[in-house]
Amino acid sequence: MTRDTPPDAFYDILRGVAALTGNAVVADLARLVADEMPPDLWIAFNHKQIGSKRWLVDALAQAMPQPQGPVWMLGAWYGVLGALLLADERLAIPAVVSLDRDATCAPVAERLNRRHVASGRFRAITADMTTLDFAAQQPRPGLVINTSCEHLDDVPGWLATLPPGLPLLLQSNDYFREPDHRSCVGSLDDFKAQAGLSDLLFAGAQPTKNYTRFMLIGRR
Ligand SMILES: C[S@@+](CC[C@H](N)C(=O)[O-])C[C@H]1O[C@@H](n2cnc3c(N)ncnc32)[C@H](O)[C@@H]1O
Repeated sequence: MTRDTPPDAFYDILRGVAALTGNAVVADLARLVADEMPPDLWIAFNHKQIGSKRWLVDALAQAMPQPQGPVWMLGAWYGVLGALLLADERLAIPAVVSLDRDATCAPVAERLNRRHVASGRFRAITADMTTLDFAAQQPRPGLVINTSCEHLDDVPGWLATLPPGLPLLLQSNDYFREPDHRSCVGSLDDFKAQAGLSDLLFAGAQPTKNYTRFMLIGRR
């Protein structure tokens, strides 16, 4: 592929991969690429991003496959994780709420997940996660996922605002060099101490080339 490759070529290849694999998320991605995609969509769909989200889906399928309410996905970016959660047959997720403070994310997330928007299982909203009152949400969230803990100024302070007992899946990392990262942790034990979850169902670390990603599943 060259700089001059027509955009239709990416659509055709993705449609071909969807036909070859029967993967509905690839078919949804093909439609997104055909419409109009943001210039950094390739980052959200690169193998590292997808790898860390598959790790998350596999861990959730073991630890908490049937959340008792909608799954809130915070710092959700273009809604890729929501698409993977709703596609996985090991999980029984009633609905996904995909939240990001960047207003350019919600329209892309809803176009990627258009089948689930149509069936009422997906919606995307623009908000700052640190200002939300989760105790006031109806229906009550069955699980809150935050894969961007490293981006927050004060992780313990944010967690203290959540209702006690709320099911949580949290990810952070030790990528201290990235300028947007404010709350990185040096180890899985440091992340456990930072989060202080009351009922820990899963704790794991996934090394990558430049940093290690950490994940916890439990309750506030
Ligand atoms: C680079 S992305 C994803 C990083 C994450 N480690 C992942 O792979 O899922 C981080 C996203 O979090 C969002 N974000 C950061 N702080 C936020 C906040 N306080 N409320 C809502 N979204 C936030 C950003 O707008 C961005 O889209």
